[in-house]
Amino acid sequence: MKSLDEIIKNRRSIRNYQPKSVEREKIMQVLEAARLAPSACNAQPWKFIVAESPDIKDAVVKEGLNNIAVPNKWAADAPVIIAVCSKTKFFVHNIAEKIQDVDYHLIDLGIACEHLVLKAEELGLGTCYIGWFRGREIKKVLNLPSSYKVECLITLGYAQPDSQKESPRKPLEEIAEFK
Ligand SMILES: Cc1cc2nc3c(=O)[nH]c(=O)nc-3n(C[C@H](O)[C@H](O)[C@H](O)COP(=O)(O)O)c2cc1C
Repeated sequence: MKSLDEIIKNRRSIRNYQPKSVEREKIMQVLEAARLAPSACNAQPWKFIVAESPDIKDAVVKEGLNNIAVPNKWAADAPVIIAVCSKTKFFVHNIAEKIQDVDYHLIDLGIACEHLVLKAEELGLGTCYIGWFRGREIKKVLNLPSSYKVECLITLGYAQPDSQKESPRKPLEEIAEFK
C-alpha cells in the first residue's frame, strides 16, 4: 500500500493517456474520496459530472477546449473528463463569504478535487486539472442546470509510460514563515 507521502510526491499532471478505459469501480472510488472532503459549514457545494462516453467527451473537448488561450486539446486522449461544478451558493456561504471576504465554495471545491486526484494516484491513475476551458459551452454539452457553474475539469486515465514530468517547486523557506 502506498503511503500518503509517496502519493503526494509521485503525483504529476498527466497529459498523455493510454487508450484504455477506467474501471467504473475506480471512478466510484475517486468520487467517494471527493465526497468525504470537508467544506465550510459542511455545505458540500459541489457536483462532479463524469464524461466517459466517447460522444460526450469528444463534444466537451471540441466545444470546451478549443479556441482558448491555452489549448488543452491533449485532453481528447483522456478516457474520462470530470467537470467539477459549484452549485449556486448557499445562503450561509453567501453571508460568511461577505463577512470574511473569502470564496469558501472555491476552497471547498479545491479540497474535494485534491482528495479525488490523490485517490486517483493511489489507484495508479493519472489526472490533470484544466482551468482553461469554455464553461458555457461545456455546460451546454453536459446539459447542466443553470444553477451549476463549471469551475474546473479533471482528466482521468492511465498514464502513458514516461509521461510523468517533474515540475519544480519553490523551496520551503520561500513559502513558509514561522513567527
Ligand atoms: C487550478 C488548476 C488549473 C490548471 N489548469 C491547467 C490547464 O488548463 N492546462 C494544463 O495543461 N494544466 C493545468 N494545470 C496543471 C498545472 O499546470 C500543474 O499542476 C503545474 O504545472 C504543476 O505540475 P504538476 O501537477 O505535474 O506537479 C492546472 C492546475 C491547477 C491546480
